[in-house]
Amino acid sequence: MCGIIGVVALPGKTPYKPSEMGYRGLLRLEYRGYDSAGGASIDPFRRRIIVAKGKGKIAELERKLGLSKLPGYTLIYHTRWATHGRPSDENAHPHLDCRGEIAVVHNGIIQNYRILKEELLRKGHVFSSETDTEVIAHLIEEKYRVYRDFYRAFKEAVMEIEGSYALAVITLHEPDKIFFAKKDSPLIIGVGDGYNFVASDIPAILEYTRKAIIVHDNELGYITPSSIYLEELGRGSIDWSRRVRIIEWSIEDASKGGYPHYMLKEIHEQPRAIRDTLYGLMNEPVVVEAAKLLLDARRIYTTAAGTSYHAGLYYSLATAQLAKQPVYSFIASEYPSIADSVGEDDVLVAISQSGETIDVLMAVRAFRERGGRVIAVSNIVDSAIPRESDLAIYMRAGPEIGVAATKTFTAQTTVLAWLAIAHGEEAGVLDRSEAGELRDWLAKAPQLVAESIAANESLAIKLAEWIAGKHSMYYLSRWIGVPVAMEGALKLKEIAYIHAESYPAGESKHGPIALVENMFPVLFVIPGVDWVEKLLLGNIQEMRARGAYIIGVAAEDTGLADQLDLWFRVPCGHWILTPLTHTPPLQLLAYYTAIRRGYDPDKPRNLAKTVTVE
Ligand code: M6R
Repeated sequence: MCGIIGVVALPGKTPYKPSEMGYRGLLRLEYRGYDSAGGASIDPFRRRIIVAKGKGKIAELERKLGLSKLPGYTLIYHTRWATHGRPSDENAHPHLDCRGEIAVVHNGIIQNYRILKEELLRKGHVFSSETDTEVIAHLIEEKYRVYRDFYRAFKEAVMEIEGSYALAVITLHEPDKIFFAKKDSPLIIGVGDGYNFVASDIPAILEYTRKAIIVHDNELGYITPSSIYLEELGRGSIDWSRRVRIIEWSIEDASKGGYPHYMLKEIHEQPRAIRDTLYGLMNEPVVVEAAKLLLDARRIYTTAAGTSYHAGLYYSLATAQLAKQPVYSFIASEYPSIADSVGEDDVLVAISQSGETIDVLMAVRAFRERGGRVIAVSNIVDSAIPRESDLAIYMRAGPEIGVAATKTFTAQTTVLAWLAIAHGEEAGVLDRSEAGELRDWLAKAPQLVAESIAANESLAIKLAEWIAGKHSMYYLSRWIGVPVAMEGALKLKEIAYIHAESYPAGESKHGPIALVENMFPVLFVIPGVDWVEKLLLGNIQEMRARGAYIIGVAAEDTGLADQLDLWFRVPCGHWILTPLTHTPPLQLLAYYTAIRRGYDPDKPRNLAKTVTVE
């Protein structure tokens, strides 16, 4: 996820050179993950904006470009985590307008950038990157031509952009200011003495000040070395003095955003990750291209490993339902058993958050060698799997640092649901309004996921105390709930080291029920679908009859409430949202069970975040 730091200072008032402060702040944002970085400053004679940026690690760029040596007192820096446009020197931030008088850094996704860019191109603007961000610099330039008042121009531009953004902008027109705006991406102001900051995150400023103001959505303004102007769009200026917070965290605590572990932070980031993913998908032509490819396919396969494999199972069930097309799902490492049957006109949907998992990459290569076409779904722009595929669709979850996948699972299933809907529409199975209704449900997901997390965290803590003493547990469901149950079991195994097994609930009587004895924990994922509930009722009862302790993850309106010993209540929704609403309680249960057992959930034993060996 991109990171921003901007500093504006009075000469002689800072403990280090302002550029060193900016650079050190940038290093504190490294943990967020990035592929390129850069900075811009107004030269002390105010005649030009100096930019130093490129692809690569910050330390490398420092050696090559001297990021910490930029001159002047007004500076912005950025770490980029590619979303629009591959990682490259040109796509690194800051971005300039045509005349080099405005420099912009941005975290988020500008949803309407294509429309804005076309308009700006028509007006003669020249672009030098593939990013959505660059349109902001040109849009402000365009507005400035009209208003000749920079803040007005900035504000008008902000009102025109749609999507998520944290912005920091410097300009030769007002060289002692950094302009900022925020919606759906984090931004804070650091309050210093003779200098002020804007930043994505508290660690970036903590070395220099413990006073911070959290900027809210739809707020914008500017900082100078000795003043702060803050306003809410449509409501006017804000008295920010009562919003100054004293930060008591250590730098290490702060990089986890105040959470004790990355995993917990990433669980809580899911509403944001899903929202950004949805913004990225809207008006994304590659989804339509992918849907067309799928429609023409002779056979459709999906492959992945671990958590991504569960997302693939969900995708195959959703596609069967929405596009009436079967999708064969296989575990990536099993690709040799599939490869010989692949031919031209077959399409593979290869899912990998890292984009580098070797088993998935081998499956992709085997498929393409035989003339098959590949659609990659990944979180990392330009990683190996998307690069070697015919088409790539990206989620925008931001970097995931905890080894256990959490936010990338829900972001992946968001992408796959979107793809299944587009496919269903293309196939004529869904009419426009049915497809629109399903997309409306997905648009509600960020809010519903936030509710699911908030409603279940304390129950997860309580239940974890008991589960921590167990040796084994079942996670059961049917249909669209099965991949979610599988994901819950994988989480418990990998971070709490408790044996957990998951299978479609109808299989119990064919063997697994033999293990069930008094107080054996059995968790049922209960999607809000009548026929599933009816069948699960029998499965719950057969478990209960053997003394099992029944835990349910179900919506408020479930007909099975009286069958449950313990109930994780999730918001009511549509079946398509099942992985989004029902997975967070399972992630929280695994997390708190690991904590209770004294394990570090961020670094589970024997596991690596990205598996690049066969
Ligand atoms: O990066 P990928 O999605 O290809 O990774 C696949 C698996 O290695 C990954 O999901 C793994 O199972 C995680 N530890 C799950 O939490």
